Amino acid sequence: MYDVTLIPGDGIGPEVAAAARLVIDAAGVNICWEVRQAGEAAIKEYGSPLPGAVMDSINRNKVALKGPLTTPVGAGYRSVNVALRRTLDLYINLRPIQSYKGIKSIYQDIDLVIIRENTEDFHTGIEHMVGEDAAESIKVITRKACERIIRYAFEYAKKNGRKKVTAVHKADIMKCTDGLFLETARLAAADYPELEFEDRIVDNMAMQLVRKPEEYDVLVMPNMYGDILSDLCAGLVGGLGVAPGANIGDKLAIFEPVHGTAPKYAGKNAANPTAMILSGVLMLEYLGEFEAAIKIREALEKVFVEGKVRTKDLGGTASTSEFAEAVAAKI
Ligand code: NAI
Repeated sequence: MYDVTLIPGDGIGPEVAAAARLVIDAAGVNICWEVRQAGEAAIKEYGSPLPGAVMDSINRNKVALKGPLTTPVGAGYRSVNVALRRTLDLYINLRPIQSYKGIKSIYQDIDLVIIRENTEDFHTGIEHMVGEDAAESIKVITRKACERIIRYAFEYAKKNGRKKVTAVHKADIMKCTDGLFLETARLAAADYPELEFEDRIVDNMAMQLVRKPEEYDVLVMPNMYGDILSDLCAGLVGGLGVAPGANIGDKLAIFEPVHGTAPKYAGKNAANPTAMILSGVLMLEYLGEFEAAIKIREALEKVFVEGKVRTKDLGGTASTSEFAEAVAAKI
């Protein structure tokens, strides 16, 4: 039996979390879900968006499945997502991007992996006003953080039979920070002669991903570019409703979709829970529960290919819970 912390989150979070739980339980893995509130839900109950009970639960269980959390824009409390990743040193943000049979997209057979550094860059939020009319934000990049994320990318590529690693940067302009990232990637590449290595400037990368995504395999990049390109890549395979992710450290991991709280769908039982279900699948694979993970992947594919039960983002009329029930029934 596994003890797993479940953070339903804000907006569509509780709906997609309930859907994922239904599907994972249907796959027959014995999980004791420890439900903990964070984000807006927690402020109402505990006066803090990240109560101690959440951290205690994750530290104890070492594995969590998490829905999206609201971060107020332009003011208000700082991102709980960033706080979780930094405090728990979850330095790897793994975001596989795959085409699914049965989901219409102008691209077919996309199979990319974004590996995003998860603890520094502009996301450290070190910024301040300089007088009334200027503002500064400090981009932090360290050799240690570059080294461990880049090594992880090469090791991931090797273990998973991937052919190529592409380092994404803006070292033409940010010669110190992104220059350090690129230099570290070039040095590490020398230790993996069996893998092809190349680098791309991030603006060109964005264009290449739209024009020729099939040419890319494993992409490794600093935090901010990973944040932006993850959404772009989700758009290549059907949108944010189908893009899962994992935040992984040396000792623990939090699995969560790429998407946010999708306020327009919140409380309407209308969001696509696939991204959250697939984040649960990544969690099962992390736990070594490969059979259950395959069962869920196959069930999702059957439902997509049949095409009778589709959520609104994929052109259908099914609700979040109807979709989850259809997937659970296939299992
Ligand atoms: P968002 O990801 O919530 O929504 C972007 C677009 O994708 C919207 O059109 C939305 O309706 C659609 N969408 C997202 N998930 C969907 C799903 N499962 N099914 C169908 N459509 C879906 O991004 P947005 O609007 O920029 O941010 C909203 C809030 O979410 C903000 O407070 C932001 O800070 C937070 N956020 C939290 C994240 C996390 O907890 N990891 C990640 C991204 C944003």
